[in-house]
Amino acid sequence: MSASAIFAHTMPTPTTRKRVTTLRLVQMKREGTPIAALTAYDALTAGIFDRAGIDVLLVGDSVGNVVQGHDTTIPVTLDHMIYHTQAVVRSVERALIVTDMPFMSYQVSPQEALRNAGRLMKEAGCGAVKLEGGARVVESVRIMTENGIPVMGHLGLTPQSIHQFGSYKERGATTEEADAIKRDAEALQQAGVFSLVLEKVPAALAADVTSMVDVPTIGIGAGPECDGQILVWADMLGVTTEFRPRFVRRYAELADVMTAAVGAYVQDVRDHNFPTQEESY
Ligand code: KIV
Repeated sequence: MSASAIFAHTMPTPTTRKRVTTLRLVQMKREGTPIAALTAYDALTAGIFDRAGIDVLLVGDSVGNVVQGHDTTIPVTLDHMIYHTQAVVRSVERALIVTDMPFMSYQVSPQEALRNAGRLMKEAGCGAVKLEGGARVVESVRIMTENGIPVMGHLGLTPQSIHQFGSYKERGATTEEADAIKRDAEALQQAGVFSLVLEKVPAALAADVTSMVDVPTIGIGAGPECDGQILVWADMLGVTTEFRPRFVRRYAELADVMTAAVGAYVQDVRDHNFPTQEESY
């Protein structure tokens, strides 16, 4: 879709400004209303996405790549996630805010996972947490949900395990991997997750998981049959320029717009065209 077509398109005003809850997401699956989700890491962009009608804002540990300039999400800390979530919380009125539990904040023991998830809820103010993995995190999911912390699961490509897998390629392409993902989805549902992210798995597998579980699936590179979709905001708005996987549809080319605008500003300063008398006191 071209930029002008997008701007000509009426902005999808949410029917209500009522806060989106985890229960509402389950209801959306039941009524067949697709869930629209994006990442957010700061107050400025999160407020824009919220006013545009986004249902879920994920303060993803992709902040490590997008904002901090790392190659992986591994260096992101719990304190970073608290800081970014606090910023997002300040500007969002409607969307459900979900915060990623970063690498090593939930792997050591279910008790430590519970304590750290508690910090994200209490100090940062998110509405739910997300963690990566299947069978190995089931106990942590159970203890969190039993203690009133809503948890989103994350299966398929799990970027925190990059050094174990060695690549960001599609997961679940073999029968064994696909069966393991289905078993993990079932186990996470049993443990109480309210939703599941499916990342970079074949569309047919995502469709099977979506029909198997009662909780909504949110896909990223997982085809059209998921109950919702999520993208990293900087990818879909064309701020990141190098990363162009086929599952990212670019709705704008903001890097081009920003480069041209900053270039024009530099030129104006050099040419003594900025500021004018009207722009001065
Ligand atoms: O951290 C993140 O941005 C994510 C999404 C890719 C789902 O986990």
